[in-house]
Amino acid sequence: MNTRSFTISYPAAGPGNTDIFFHDSIYIPEDSPCTLTVTDEHIADLYKAGLFKIQDEGTLVLPAGEKYKTPEMLGRILEAALDRGLGRDGVFTGFGGGVICDMTAFAASVYMRGAGLELVPTTLLAMVDAAVGGKTACDFGGAKNAVGTFYPASKLHICPAFIDTLPEAEYRSGLAEAVKTAMLYDPELFSLFRREKAAVLARDRAVLGGIIRRCVELKAQVVEEDFTEKGRRMELNLGHTFAHALESAVGLGEITHGEAVAWGIARALDLGMLKGITSPGWAEEAKTLLAEYGWCTLPQHPRMPHPAAGKLPPGSAPQTSLRFMKSDKKQRGGAVRFVLQREAAVTEILPAEDSEVLEVLK
Ligand SMILES: NC(=O)c1ccc[n+]([C@@H]2O[C@H](COP(=O)([O-])OP(=O)(O)OC[C@H]3O[C@@H](n4cnc5c(N)ncnc54)[C@H](O)[C@@H]3O)[C@@H](O)[C@H]2O)c1
Repeated sequence: MNTRSFTISYPAAGPGNTDIFFHDSIYIPEDSPCTLTVTDEHIADLYKAGLFKIQDEGTLVLPAGEKYKTPEMLGRILEAALDRGLGRDGVFTGFGGGVICDMTAFAASVYMRGAGLELVPTTLLAMVDAAVGGKTACDFGGAKNAVGTFYPASKLHICPAFIDTLPEAEYRSGLAEAVKTAMLYDPELFSLFRREKAAVLARDRAVLGGIIRRCVELKAQVVEEDFTEKGRRMELNLGHTFAHALESAVGLGEITHGEAVAWGIARALDLGMLKGITSPGWAEEAKTLLAEYGWCTLPQHPRMPHPAAGKLPPGSAPQTSLRFMKSDKKQRGGAVRFVLQREAAVTEILPAEDSEVLEVLK
């Protein structure tokens, strides 16, 4: 097996390091009496179909999807660790998408005040984003990621080979986060998305491997500088304020995160233009790329509950989005702040008036 690696450290957060390994083929977590692997039913089905092997003994299989990113599932992980007799020196391994990685990491962070943690992300989104940087969470009281900790994995194993079996919607969800990273930090990566669109959509392993590695490196640099999201790390929320409003309005888990993020980025570009911050040339270039990949860049997303369907009063979709933005846990003192771009790789975080937000949603 050909493996390459590098290490992220967190100087601002203490002595923790994450060793990141890139594998050319599939990596399966090792089983031992002091490990607990957590995965979901879809990964377990792939295993049953003979696509790869997981260890039955030390593996907890949870139901799949955002609907199950709950305190109940967190409890099941902790119970399984106790049943297995894991001590503080035990190792939890999250083997799955962002949901499994986030919850396993959360469980590891609170088990006996902090046990070992390794992650093997199996979705594109988890490889380029969720598994990198130590944010852990589960949803609570209907609010996404309402509880969680900062707790980096000691090892992160990235295997682009897992992407072969990803459903198309999940693949595209991860692509949106990768495009976001390119817009924030790497104009060369952004132009690769345009140049290599056919290869990207065909999941060409070499092209994708390069994209994943670059996104991991870029996110690692940001996280090293601002582990607990007091400053620069907030930039990674480009498009996310609009995206969370859409996800909440549609219902948690009813639309992929990346689909919502791509739409949210287009709204942020329009908001930036309205405020005179974003250069119209950059907004046009970025929205054209998003549209070429098939993401909605229009003010009203087709999945937003439509007044005509009787779910919202006529004309109220923009106000509904705004209400969800105001209830977002990241808003302080009622002012909704947005990640806005001046141009490629030049980003600022600024508040916006309600009237401005409503304007880019109609
Ligand atoms: N911690 C962070 O910094 C961070 C960053 C971004 C997103 N997130 C979180 O990540 C979550 C979304 O992650 P996700 O998009 O990976 O969702 P997910 O974990 O629900 O996975 C998506 C679907 O793909 C299936 N799947 C996983 N790997 C597969 C494979 N190799 N082949 C076939 N099917 C596979 C899963 O079973 C699931 O049905 C959200 O909860 C979000 O909040 C966290």
